[in-house]
Amino acid sequence: MIQVNNDAAYTSAVAWVQAENRTLAQRGAAPRYHVITFGCQQNEADSERIRGMAEQMGYLPAKGPEDAALIVINTCAIREHAELRALSVIGRCKKIKERDRSVVIGVCGCMTAQERRVEQLKRSYPYVDFTLEPCSMHLLPQAVASVRRDHRRRFLLGEGVLEAVEGMPIVRSARHRAYVSIMYGCNNFCSYCIVPYVRDRERSRDSGEIINEVRTLIAKGARDITLLGQNVNSYRGDCDFPALLSRLDALEGDFVLRFMTSHPKDVSDRLIEVIAGGRHIAPHFHLPVQSGSDRILARMNRHYDRARYLATVEKLRRAMPDIAITSDVIVGFPGETEEEFSDTLSLIDAVGFDMIYSFIYSPRKGTPAAEMEDQISDEVKGERMRRLLEVADAAALARAKPYEGKTLRVLVDGESKNGADGMYSGRTDQNKLVHFAATPEDVGQFRLVRVERADGYAMHGQIIRES
Ligand code: 5AD
Ligand code: SF4
Repeated sequence: MIQVNNDAAYTSAVAWVQAENRTLAQRGAAPRYHVITFGCQQNEADSERIRGMAEQMGYLPAKGPEDAALIVINTCAIREHAELRALSVIGRCKKIKERDRSVVIGVCGCMTAQERRVEQLKRSYPYVDFTLEPCSMHLLPQAVASVRRDHRRRFLLGEGVLEAVEGMPIVRSARHRAYVSIMYGCNNFCSYCIVPYVRDRERSRDSGEIINEVRTLIAKGARDITLLGQNVNSYRGDCDFPALLSRLDALEGDFVLRFMTSHPKDVSDRLIEVIAGGRHIAPHFHLPVQSGSDRILARMNRHYDRARYLATVEKLRRAMPDIAITSDVIVGFPGETEEEFSDTLSLIDAVGFDMIYSFIYSPRKGTPAAEMEDQISDEVKGERMRRLLEVADAAALARAKPYEGKTLRVLVDGESKNGADGMYSGRTDQNKLVHFAATPEDVGQFRLVRVERADGYAMHGQIIRES
């Protein structure tokens, strides 16, 4: 384990930038930072650390990239589309740099763990000052210090650490919801996935560090805590995942515990027992199935088959009848026949998922699936995606309808996006989105809501107030 507070290179870089920023602030030009995040919850959590380090170095939050002296773009590489979006946002920084050469522009996240992307940024994006791959995120102060002091571009690749890094400051985006990373990296090498290449091998944090972090969060008002890892069931700190979960569940307070993501091959009876017997553990399981065809699952290197997946779902439902089950599905994996795609549709029907995140297969350079010969055309992938969405929507609606007339506990998040005045939204323990009339005092609190109408992906209801 690395403790940044005991790391001389970290602390001296922070101190140097702090002193520079203090001088600027005294001249009335306090420097500001702005972070742009793409991708998954792990990236959101990483960005909270980037904000933490920026504030530790004496930067203040900016309103947007235009008034920032430090811009960090935290990228995602899971699909081609995500990379192209990030590159286009990076491209927009050119103008900012032309206006003010002193602005420091950094790119980090999964895209910058690929040599060809780092080369591309070096060559074609001369205004990018540094890159940091995910396992060297704690080197941010050193990168910023060296860019500002030596006016040299830094491209850090292969200099990261394969240990959990502790002590990084965190600026959280919400008080009542919090992400807590419990492990990093992935050892599974699903044949389509870039993650094991860009986030490296699995490493887990010590349970003591995690428990302290969660305890502090609860004391500060967090009501919904999500444990994060590429594959949380592979957590191997000084205990295993079910043990960690039950120790966290034993903490006192009014909170819900969630975790993601789980790999179906690793869901043990013990884990199901812990969730079912938990006081705080949410009745929600995100269990990415990816495909309903045994041949495709084998080609994906997933290490389970359809029957085993269905058996796990059955066990979960037997132990917890009200559990919500959500999933990820990939359509158009190389070689997927029409019949194999129908197997995915029939599996969705058989399980009745509460929600599915569906993705069109995107070849990732360096992964085995990208080299497979029988790639599916964009037309076929698009057409299958449309059919998949129809089946997924019908399943979600069927799962949502029975909630009509029921009263559920909801954690209030804030005003509904695009909603009418006075309309707020929140999430049930099953992580279902609910809209209702509320007031600012309700935000961050649990309330009971009676559901009047349930559509596929959102419910509408009313808060029940104690009289
Ligand atoms: N193409 C499409 N979807 C992918 N995913 C991972 N890699 C790819 C890819 N190359 C999906 C999987 C995973 C989710 C996070 O992203 O469904 O569970
Ligand atoms: Fe990718 Fe598979 Fe690891 Fe998930 S478990 S991050 S899909 S390799």
